[in-house]
Amino acid sequence: MRILITGGTGLIGRRLCRALLAEGRELTVLSRNPASVPLKCGAGVHALGSLAEWHPALAFDAVINLAGEPIIDKRWSAQRKRVLWDSRVTLTDELVRRIAAAERKPSVLLSGSAVGYYGNRGDVMLDEASGAGEGFAAELCKAWEDAARVAESVGVRVCLLRTAPVLSNDGGVLGRMLPPFRLGLGARLGNGKQWMSWVHIEDYAAMVLRLLRDEQAHGPYNMAAPNPVTNAEFTATLAAVQHRPAFFVAPAALLKLAMGESASLLLEGQRVLPKKMEAAHYHFTFPTLAEALRDVI
Ligand SMILES: NC(=O)c1ccc[n+]([C@@H]2O[C@H](COP(=O)([O-])OP(=O)(O)OC[C@H]3O[C@@H](n4cnc5c(N)ncnc54)[C@H](OP(=O)(O)O)[C@@H]3O)[C@@H](O)[C@H]2O)c1
Repeated sequence: MRILITGGTGLIGRRLCRALLAEGRELTVLSRNPASVPLKCGAGVHALGSLAEWHPALAFDAVINLAGEPIIDKRWSAQRKRVLWDSRVTLTDELVRRIAAAERKPSVLLSGSAVGYYGNRGDVMLDEASGAGEGFAAELCKAWEDAARVAESVGVRVCLLRTAPVLSNDGGVLGRMLPPFRLGLGARLGNGKQWMSWVHIEDYAAMVLRLLRDEQAHGPYNMAAPNPVTNAEFTATLAAVQHRPAFFVAPAALLKLAMGESASLLLEGQRVLPKKMEAAHYHFTFPTLAEALRDVI
């Protein structure tokens, strides 16, 4: 099986490349820095520097679409929102045009999204049938999914990966959170009542392999462990796993001042359940946060 992965050099992509290479797949990674691909993704992984290099005779059996500018690193100015949008929605539009133009089309497109699709929904339990929420992150995810779904019109099976914060020892959300926690400076965010869904990177990779193989799988999938927690519980668990205190509170007003609109990613949340994965009898290796954090850390 020949697979094209956009964003394959990222946190999730690198782990997926490892899992797919172990299965003997032939991989091509789209990267703005193609020379870095063999180093980051594995020797023997091919690189595409741009989608323009995907000529119609080049055949892929599957496409995994993960590219996107980091969403939490900078304030969401109008210009930054454009960059976040273009790196996901515009890139996916172009990817789907290339898929449609291919002489032999891939049979499946697994395309990125995030639990931010649901917006800020308080304590409501959200499954894949729940509608999109409000706010920039939700609109971005909705447009990203809509762009990917166009591939269905040319006969491609499409799965949408509504991804929760991925727990890994290689960066991502824990890469940002761990340094203060290690110093005993871990802090609850705002009132700590906002829900935090999460997923261990090993479960994430296993679910992606499942969605690639399962020809019946299609539509949105909540890529989240079955036991979301509140931010207060996440903070307490992360501190306990590290045998450190977490007495502090990062006040909502301070976070909003420092981060502007993007503070919504920290102060709002979603209580997401992986209903479709569980219905497909996927058994999580790390169903609870304490187990997942102990393994990752
Ligand atoms: N990790 C999480 O917790 C999480 C949670 C929810 C959703 N997601 C989504 O899942 C996707 C993968 O996540 P990740 O954590 O692996 O992300 P990541 O580590 O930031 O990697 C994303 C990749 O996208 C490519 N990229 C970045 N900016 C780009 C741009 N302007 N144009 C084209 N490509 C660009 C980069 O590849 P090159 O530099 O090689 O071009 C990068 O390696 C992202 O879209 C993210 O929004 C992740």
